[in-house]
Amino acid sequence: MKIGSLTLKSNLFLSPLAGYTNLPFRLVVREIGGVGLCTTDLVNARSLLEKRAKAFKLIETRSADSPLAVQLFGSVPEEMRDAALVAEAHGAVSVDINMGCPVKKVVKIGGGSAMMTELDKTATLVRGMVNAVKIPVTAKMRLGWDDQNITAPDLARALEDAGVAAIFVHGRTREQGFGGMVNLAGIRRVVEAVKTIPVIGNGDIVTPQSAKKMFDETGCAGVSIGRGAFYDPWIFKRTLHLLQTGELLPEESFSERVRVLCRHLDLMIEVFGEELGCRMFRKIAPWYAKRFGPCHEFNKAVVHVATKAQFEVVLENYLRWRQQFLDPSGELNVRFQPAPMVASFMREPDAAAPTHIAVPKGPVEVW
Ligand SMILES: Cc1cc2nc3c(=O)[nH]c(=O)nc-3n(C[C@H](O)[C@H](O)[C@H](O)COP(=O)(O)O)c2cc1C
Repeated sequence: MKIGSLTLKSNLFLSPLAGYTNLPFRLVVREIGGVGLCTTDLVNARSLLEKRAKAFKLIETRSADSPLAVQLFGSVPEEMRDAALVAEAHGAVSVDINMGCPVKKVVKIGGGSAMMTELDKTATLVRGMVNAVKIPVTAKMRLGWDDQNITAPDLARALEDAGVAAIFVHGRTREQGFGGMVNLAGIRRVVEAVKTIPVIGNGDIVTPQSAKKMFDETGCAGVSIGRGAFYDPWIFKRTLHLLQTGELLPEESFSERVRVLCRHLDLMIEVFGEELGCRMFRKIAPWYAKRFGPCHEFNKAVVHVATKAQFEVVLENYLRWRQQFLDPSGELNVRFQPAPMVASFMREPDAAAPTHIAVPKGPVEVW
């Protein structure tokens, strides 16, 4: 898979999830394998230029965390240009622009000319960045404001003309938030709108099969996975295997999930220190637990963890408590197996209540 001058090992991408896709998680995903490119959380361009510690923490990286894209957020062309230069100097192999929703509330302002003004402005900002750095510049967007205003195809085309090397598109509108279905036909329209650059589809991929369906139905060149990677960090490895061989690998064992959970905490402590690392881990551990089967005892206790020693006690207690749900063979009894997650666009029309992937809290407006 190529993005401008960049060659990637796979066409599977880790989507930016502010507050989650930090260095420890990226390392976890990379150690498991299958991912082609990871992206940082969004970084405010101005904060980077003001050398704020928080912004630099967001772009903290190391050699095992490569290739890495830095995602920038901002609307002042000079700031975005200079921040792109900082990211490049810091080792980023590409810079991604967070476009949030492609246009302002076109419903209110009547769309049309206002939209085109916005497109021109955006294209100027992008051109400034593209001309300043040697690495590829990419853009991430939603489909548009609402179903009546699917503007991503036009924007993608304009951005391609301005020099953007790839487009990432979340197949929902701004109005949808994280509800309803990911619109594969909408992603396809973006794929068809550009001339040569790759379009990477995104939204709701929770299994290798759903990744394959997005490829098949949209013609996208790659797929990007966010929440699904938290739910199952093995998704890249299993998806790549499915795409390359047609074979669906079994899900990871419980013991492997526990091993990676512990590895993730160790990396959090390494990168953020024990106190902050443990505190941040309180919202991460329950994502792993979603595939553990009965887990409320674990979730209840893990939100109070402040040290690694405390975490070890929580885990030990949980493993003991969980034994009541095991067969004599030591496997989780089928009655307690967690229901599989199903992507919105994989659901049968008459299926029972959907198992929706959770939406962590945050400023959805800019995603
Ligand atoms: C908690 C959270 C944080 C996010 N942060 C960002 C972000 O920093 N930049 C961005 O472009 N998108 C962000 N997104 C959007 C995701 O990258 C992605 O487009 C969206 O979650 C749909 O993909 P998924 O279903 O695979 O998660 C965020 C989404 C969530 C739920």
